[in-house]
Amino acid sequence: MLLKNIQHKPLKHYSDLHAHEFAEKLLNRMTTKEKIGQLYQAPYYSDTVTGHAFDASSTIEEIKMGMVGSLLSVHDEGTLFDLQKVAVEQSRLHIPLIFMFDVIHGYKTAFPINLALSNTWEPNLIYRIAKAIAYETAHAGIHVTFSPMVDLVRDPKWGRVMESNGEDPYLSSELTKAYVSGYQGDSLSNKNAVAACVKHFAGYGFVEAGREYNTVDVSKRKLFTMILPPFRAAVSQNVALTMTAFNTLFDRPATANKYLLKDILRNELGFNGIIISDYTSTEEIISHKVAKDEKDAAKQCFDAGLEHEMVSRTYLNHLQSLLEAGEIDYSALDEAVLRMLMLKYKLGLFDDPYRNLYTNSKQYMLLENTKKLAVEAVEKSVVMLKNDKLLPLSKHEKIGLVGPFIDSKDLIGEWAALCEKSDVVSIKSAFEENHFPFKHFEETAFEDLKNDNEVKTVIVALGESGAHAGEGNSKTNLHLDTHQQNLLKSIKQMDKKVVLIVFAGRPLILTNLINNADAVLYAYQPGTMAGIGLFNLITGKTSPSGKLTMTFPFHEGQVPIYYNHLKTGRPFDEKRPTYRYNSRYIDAPNEPLYPFGYGLSYGVFIYTNLRIDKQNLHPNEQLNVQVTIQNDSIYAAEEVVQLYIESEYYSVSRPVDELKAFKRIKFNPHETKQVDFVLTMNDFRSYNMNMIWTAEISKYQIKVGPSSSEKLSQSIEIKDF
Ligand code: NOJ
Repeated sequence: MLLKNIQHKPLKHYSDLHAHEFAEKLLNRMTTKEKIGQLYQAPYYSDTVTGHAFDASSTIEEIKMGMVGSLLSVHDEGTLFDLQKVAVEQSRLHIPLIFMFDVIHGYKTAFPINLALSNTWEPNLIYRIAKAIAYETAHAGIHVTFSPMVDLVRDPKWGRVMESNGEDPYLSSELTKAYVSGYQGDSLSNKNAVAACVKHFAGYGFVEAGREYNTVDVSKRKLFTMILPPFRAAVSQNVALTMTAFNTLFDRPATANKYLLKDILRNELGFNGIIISDYTSTEEIISHKVAKDEKDAAKQCFDAGLEHEMVSRTYLNHLQSLLEAGEIDYSALDEAVLRMLMLKYKLGLFDDPYRNLYTNSKQYMLLENTKKLAVEAVEKSVVMLKNDKLLPLSKHEKIGLVGPFIDSKDLIGEWAALCEKSDVVSIKSAFEENHFPFKHFEETAFEDLKNDNEVKTVIVALGESGAHAGEGNSKTNLHLDTHQQNLLKSIKQMDKKVVLIVFAGRPLILTNLINNADAVLYAYQPGTMAGIGLFNLITGKTSPSGKLTMTFPFHEGQVPIYYNHLKTGRPFDEKRPTYRYNSRYIDAPNEPLYPFGYGLSYGVFIYTNLRIDKQNLHPNEQLNVQVTIQNDSIYAAEEVVQLYIESEYYSVSRPVDELKAFKRIKFNPHETKQVDFVLTMNDFRSYNMNMIWTAEISKYQIKVGPSSSEKLSQSIEIKDF
């Protein structure tokens, strides 16, 4: 009805074919100015990031004139409704707007930060979480989330590691697929789904020295082997949008990088959705000194394949004259607009532009099931780094609760959308709710703690504030502040047992802390249900099962440190640890404090009898791998079993270990299980010197274990492939 001026009645089926047909008809009726408008994402609230001055009334005027395609970060339902009304009732062609927002680890219910979620190693859980996030987001009237962020990361100084899936391309790819399919569901027209935007294309996780917005310089091989796989995974799930990165790659800003956007993203990965800039990254190519002015920036980005411009206005201001001068192509404009219209069509917006804006969204938020899922996420994402026979605690003794984070609600982390601290359950309140005997000691009452003979065990909660990580929060000092370090030390000196819980948006250096604690739980920022999940772990209702997805350095000077590094011609030799001409430090070990894949459990898992069903693998054959794992404990627990390969020789140097498979397995007390994996020739392939994805005549170690540093191994040969 609203669309009475559009000749073509929207269909109830939202297939690509219908979308294309519909969009083409509409496109034919649009002026060039209206087309360019579809490529613009307007801000609405005033912009504090770049100092651009925006006012709401001019955005409204521009919506009326058909100059706006989508809106950034508007999240008040009433406002969304009003703005959509302007678009569909007052613009000439009544084309609805798309609303996009950063919903990264929860809209109203905060799940653990994404780096913590990756510790679960459970794609199915990520899928269920993404679905729950989409549900809240969609019912708040938002159509697109700027997630998942899949930048491969190796440097905890970079504040944005918190949004990532960690340092491994395979694990990240599996989780990326789960995010995208969870958000998007089977059809974008489903009112519980949102469209996903994978980001940042590409290489942003490699900013030099971990400094935000800094240069990125990686080889083409690193790009293909480490950075691209999760993007490829997102494309395999039909991700709707890709966001470009702020950084340069091969010395060219990603947003104006034709090689990246056209040759790789479109042609090599086969991406068919919309390419959107990251904020003002289009006009920022002037600061990169790659474009001489705004018009030049518009031309370069457009030529490179950038379609939708966020916030800055180089397209609005200059595409028309560039088209008229023949400097860019009308057909490329049509193609970009067509994609935008198709996305609107697939979201069902031509049918119901007020999608989910009729009802009060409150009834969809913080539902019991969503909170239950958030508890599960906390339980599976926390990593137990140490446990000297202390955990789980029993209800029989009164415990002490201490530290700045013991009753803190600053446990959500950055990119929290509309999640609120007031909804967070702190550790202390979880102990209260569960009627667990405890006494809370303020820092000023330490003498009381010391003299309290009833309290023999103390939980100390330390950490960094949420505002210390996330965008724009790079830091060089990866230790907890001295005050907190001293606090822990003084409690340990009281001759009490200490459970240390650390909250942070990144791996911190724990080397000096761990000796002052008998048990350590690394919780990152666990979100709304933090206290409940941690309570369940501490008291043994469930066993810890998270495993690290970023290496924890022993010392800052080791950074970047990651498990899948290449080999050296002069490896460290344990028999001659001080030999000068081997690859080592004179003041620190090479090894991290905790390796990738590491994490303890109340279960005690004994791995034995790794077997493979062939000694030679031929093309089109499967390799069956089996290992026996015994839970030698009285606890039911889950274990993440990891399979790595190591090539003994290959024409290019390959990582010491490459993760190729993993499984999260449930064990009853004292249960023994056989765990199976299947590998194919593809798992042994890599890019050779000519960047051809191929296997070679080679020999491999197949390794299975509880972490990247503890594995059983068997060897296999490949003679033809
Ligand atoms: C900048 C960030 O880099 C990006 O991840 C985010 O989606 C946009 N701003 C929009 O808020």
